[in-house]
Amino acid sequence: MPQGLARKSCFSRFGRGVTLALVKQIQRIGLLTGGGDAPGLNAVVRGVVKAAMNNYGARVFGFYDAFRGLVRGEGKWLHWNDVSGILTQGGTILGTTNRDNPYLYVDDHRHPDRVRDASGDVARNYHKLKLDALIAVGGDGTLQCSHTMSKLGLRIVGVPKTIDNDVRGTDLTFGFNTAVTTATEAVDKLHTTAASHHRVMVLEVMGRTAGWLALTCGVAGGGDVILIPEIPYRLDSVCNKIKDRHRRGKRFSIIVVAEGARAVGGAVVVRELVAGSFEQVRLGGISALLAKQIEERTSLETRYTILGHLQRGGTPTPFDRYLATQFATAAVEMVFAGHFNRMVSLRGAKIASVPLSIPGHAPRLVSPRSQAIRMARSVGTCFGDE
Ligand code: F6P
Repeated sequence: MPQGLARKSCFSRFGRGVTLALVKQIQRIGLLTGGGDAPGLNAVVRGVVKAAMNNYGARVFGFYDAFRGLVRGEGKWLHWNDVSGILTQGGTILGTTNRDNPYLYVDDHRHPDRVRDASGDVARNYHKLKLDALIAVGGDGTLQCSHTMSKLGLRIVGVPKTIDNDVRGTDLTFGFNTAVTTATEAVDKLHTTAASHHRVMVLEVMGRTAGWLALTCGVAGGGDVILIPEIPYRLDSVCNKIKDRHRRGKRFSIIVVAEGARAVGGAVVVRELVAGSFEQVRLGGISALLAKQIEERTSLETRYTILGHLQRGGTPTPFDRYLATQFATAAVEMVFAGHFNRMVSLRGAKIASVPLSIPGHAPRLVSPRSQAIRMARSVGTCFGDE
């Protein structure tokens, strides 16, 4: 197909399934980065702009601060200079926010109760800029919202990102590998101080309702106990593991706990509620509670560390830069092939795509019966359910 032209399916007098090619020339693509930032977002911005310009001669308009920019019509046309040198940078040059849902939009966050449906503004600005398509990079909230917006007539391709790795429809999101690297470094560092002081160290990592981050950095760092939301734990089981290690001469223990973990019959620990967000509950603080309980039960000195937003920052790993570039260029190809209302995804080692409705179904969680959990148990990891 010649450059710059999109394919369009036709279901009218030509009969169902007949494809008319070369219907509409694509010249202008909108781009936004939404949700919590993740290392690799800039690699996507660069990949989209370069692939659109190099391969199709199209221009890219970057919206500032995710859907807020789309609601307000704020952003800029991106040029070579804007994306030069950003591949290795963390964060996003476009800015982002994880608290601006256009359907529950808060104009002024000093008044979080004044909420309105701003989806009309979104459609208006999309058409005002004469956009032919929009590439939305984000987690399940951004992607689900993008799917809903497709019904307004916007032609959208989604790109999955998040350090939580919990987007349904893809085996991996970019940002996860960098977060795992950061969290594993933290486990390694806690190991030496735990061993020196003969302490129990509890490291709390992010991940919302999914345990991917805790599981991966916990196994990679040799954590003795890993607590994830998908496997509710019993305090007895955790303390028995620690005491058992002590009896065998291991006078320290490392516990990695996901922020969304909870005891059997217990509740998650909520840090705060954020109005206007796709997901209003922010988790955090379970490690403090757990450390206190462990110290009381075992009489062993226990400390906790909440790694927090360090996990979202910093230079993306080479793996994340590569995956982000794969996703970005595939998303541009999808735009020019007319594959709208779909999300680019990784299936095994292959780049594929799935309907944009998929990420909205439910987060992708760790299966307690998966090979990953069996592998961790095989090397002696306690999940608090033994
Ligand atoms: O989804 C990414 C994430 O970092 C989660 O792991 C975490 O629960 C949440 O965002 C934190 O959000 P905020 O930046 O609003 O504190």
